[in-house]
Amino acid sequence: MKKETRILHAGRHPERFHGAVNPPVYHASTILHPSVAAMEKSGKTPFEGVRYGRFGTPTTFALEEAVAELEGGHRAIATSSGLAAITGALMAVLKAGDHLLMTDSTYFPTRKFCDTVLKGLGIETSYYDPTLGAGIAALFKPNTRVVFTESPGSLTFDVQDIPAIAKAAHAIGAVVMMDNTWGVLNFQPFTKGVDVSIQAATKYIVGHADAMLGTITTATPEMWLKIKTSVATFGHSPGTEELYLALRGLRTLAVRLRQHAATALELTTWLEGRPEVDRVLYPPLASDPGHALWKRDFTGACGLFGVILKPMPRPAVEAMLDGFSHFKLGFSWGGFESLVIPTDGHSIIRTASAWTPAGPSLRFHAGLEDTADLLEDLEQGFERLSCAEF
Ligand SMILES: Cc1ncc(COP(=O)(O)O)c(C=O)c1O
Repeated sequence: MKKETRILHAGRHPERFHGAVNPPVYHASTILHPSVAAMEKSGKTPFEGVRYGRFGTPTTFALEEAVAELEGGHRAIATSSGLAAITGALMAVLKAGDHLLMTDSTYFPTRKFCDTVLKGLGIETSYYDPTLGAGIAALFKPNTRVVFTESPGSLTFDVQDIPAIAKAAHAIGAVVMMDNTWGVLNFQPFTKGVDVSIQAATKYIVGHADAMLGTITTATPEMWLKIKTSVATFGHSPGTEELYLALRGLRTLAVRLRQHAATALELTTWLEGRPEVDRVLYPPLASDPGHALWKRDFTGACGLFGVILKPMPRPAVEAMLDGFSHFKLGFSWGGFESLVIPTDGHSIIRTASAWTPAGPSLRFHAGLEDTADLLEDLEQGFERLSCAEF
């Protein structure tokens, strides 16, 4: 079965639920056990079967099974947000005295977690140029335990050579983690050497901007048990309605992604031709520095891209953004609606690699509106940009 067909079936077992097409939403904390012996038995294998709500219900297991299949991994762990999945995976594997290599293009809250919580615990983070590839080996220390990747970076869109990084990391026994939210269905992490793949399911998996959720999928049973045990010990427990919304979103993920990507390609191609634009950051474009790697490793794209404008005053940019009809100002991405945020200032921080945009930078999410409406919105935005007086 092709991936698009498999995600329609993944995690669904109608025969267990009276033939209902979708798994039921279990609202449960207490699970009743028929005997002391059964209760005690459930404690011996706490993550198999149903023991107590925090460890998961059939709704949790349905999503975890489906995501593991989507990512091509051994098994998944659902968490209450994408960031909880990132921090949960890192906390499970790292201990005091360890060294973490983190891509310089990482999502800002991941950086903040490293620079505050991990630092406080005696775990050292070094940032590396996302485009290093096999050259990352020069940064390894005897205590390097994890190499964390995010490709493409969700703000600057650098594509990483994951197989080369993974090969180097495995040579010293380090664990390779990846934030695979942009690739979602179009990057198969475990065939590229990733050990732990993270999804901010809040984005495309949920797909409707109405729930927070994350997942951690592992290549091996040993890594799964290690992370699951840690996540459960911290008490992470995603809400059941959120799990259901993610399961529902999964069924239309492939078709939505295709449309998001088609629209993004049309918009980015148009934007490349605008005189106000210095650079468009979208790996499917032939002009993008990450294009060759994207073409080699990904089977498709999504609707998230960046734009660097030529130098211009901030109020002109604000006039453009404030007046959009379809590109709404809001954080996150992956929902049905088009979004935009300014990304210069505090959200892009680089400490290990150069980031020198010519002018203001923006991040767009191409939603599911008609592309002609979006192009018109952009065109009017550029008119406001050029007419603004200061
Ligand atoms: C690339 C990436 N990873 C992780 C996250 C965190 O996900 P969440 O907002 O569900 O915590 C985000 C959120 O914007 C993101 O863009």
